Amino acid sequence: MVAVKAFSRASVCRTLRGSMKVLVVGSGGREHALAWKIQQSPLVDRVFAAPGNPGTAELGENVDIAADDLEGLVGFAVDNGIDLTVVGPEAPLCAGIVDLFRERGRLCFGPDRAAAELEGSKAFARRLCQHHRIPGPQWWAYDGLAQARAFLESRQDGPIVVKASGLAAGKGVVVCKDNEHARIAVSECFDGRFGDAGNVVLFEERLQGPEVSLITLTDGETIVPLEPARDHKPVGDGDTGPNTGGMGVITPVAIPPRLARQIETQIVFPTVHAMNREQRRYRGFLYAGLMLTQQGPRVLEYNCRLGDPETQPLLMRLQSDLVPLLLATAEGRLESVEAPVWDRRVAVCVVACSGGYPGDYKKGVPIFGLDRVATGPDLQVFHAGTRSTGGDLQTAGGRVLAVTALGDDAAAARERAYQALQAIEFEGMHYRHDIGAQ
Ligand code: AMP
Ligand code: GLY
Repeated sequence: MVAVKAFSRASVCRTLRGSMKVLVVGSGGREHALAWKIQQSPLVDRVFAAPGNPGTAELGENVDIAADDLEGLVGFAVDNGIDLTVVGPEAPLCAGIVDLFRERGRLCFGPDRAAAELEGSKAFARRLCQHHRIPGPQWWAYDGLAQARAFLESRQDGPIVVKASGLAAGKGVVVCKDNEHARIAVSECFDGRFGDAGNVVLFEERLQGPEVSLITLTDGETIVPLEPARDHKPVGDGDTGPNTGGMGVITPVAIPPRLARQIETQIVFPTVHAMNREQRRYRGFLYAGLMLTQQGPRVLEYNCRLGDPETQPLLMRLQSDLVPLLLATAEGRLESVEAPVWDRRVAVCVVACSGGYPGDYKKGVPIFGLDRVATGPDLQVFHAGTRSTGGDLQTAGGRVLAVTALGDDAAAARERAYQALQAIEFEGMHYRHDIGAQ
């Protein structure tokens, strides 16, 4: 497969300097951080967010089109001469937004539908790993309740992980302590709570070890790894309680050079090659959720996009202009751009959530105190699930705000982030107190 090099980086900079219109698709903390970073690019004139949130509204213009309204989005891009569309969440990617934009002659950053299946179907991802010898846990997939139950009957009792194969907003994974727990998780998976995502259930051997999120930019030929980050998925301190979309992140994570090479040669390169061999050339952010086991690194999951909240601290540490990297990836000429430069300091992001999250929660709860937080280059509060009603800021989602701080070390970054959280209040607000503490 050969990359089509539309034009050189120098010519992009000459023709687009200060004139680009960029559309960010999505409305969470990741998209606020993307808009914040993109808006700083000297190449960019205007940033739009669809549908955006009160945070993106301060940086550019929000457009009232939902992230899953692909026709509406491409229509807006065509009518308004959008030069680059950057898709935050997985659902539009899995639904084929990149293919649709391509058909209409508009540049859209991210994997196309076939490549996004790496996240859209956990069963596909597991088969790919098995076929191409990419290390992961042992796994079994079933598309019916009876077969899944029969599997549990037949196995020795013990810990196991149950996953809905399709997209479930980070909530489709249950780490089970025994078969009884797994039986409940399986019934819930097939009871329709994840829609079609639960039609296929995956069982996985439960692995042990520290986790790391490794996100790489790739155009299918060249790979540019971002800095490693560590998400904290369970809702409670000390990794207790149910899994969430992510309660907070620290970056960088120290990875010994030998292990870093192992991750590259055993996981990242083989994944990109495997996708090429399957005729699903991957262009975009490739997120590998890894567990560093005693036997070596293992793939827990792939995502076809940037992580949320990994994006917030990563982009605060990224000193290079993001836009040339996105353009080069989308145009298949990543080889031609310089490697990104990172702030050497540590970034910590703590997510403030609605009472009850990741279960049911109220929306429309007034948020106070954001004006008391002194934001700047070392501290940002990214809006994740907020809305503005008559000028008042209210909660509008489970993960509400992502307070992100830089510091000379983890302790300093933590101190700054948690200090800022003290100023913010809303009824039911909760967050983890141990992000980046280990
Ligand atoms: P996933 O969305 O697949 O990354 O799963 C969410 C979280 O569940 C991961 O971050 C891990 O903490 C945990 N998890 C997923 N798969 C496994 C596994 N096979 N063994 C142990 N823990 C897992
Ligand atoms: N923070 C995990 C994810 O974005 O999937």
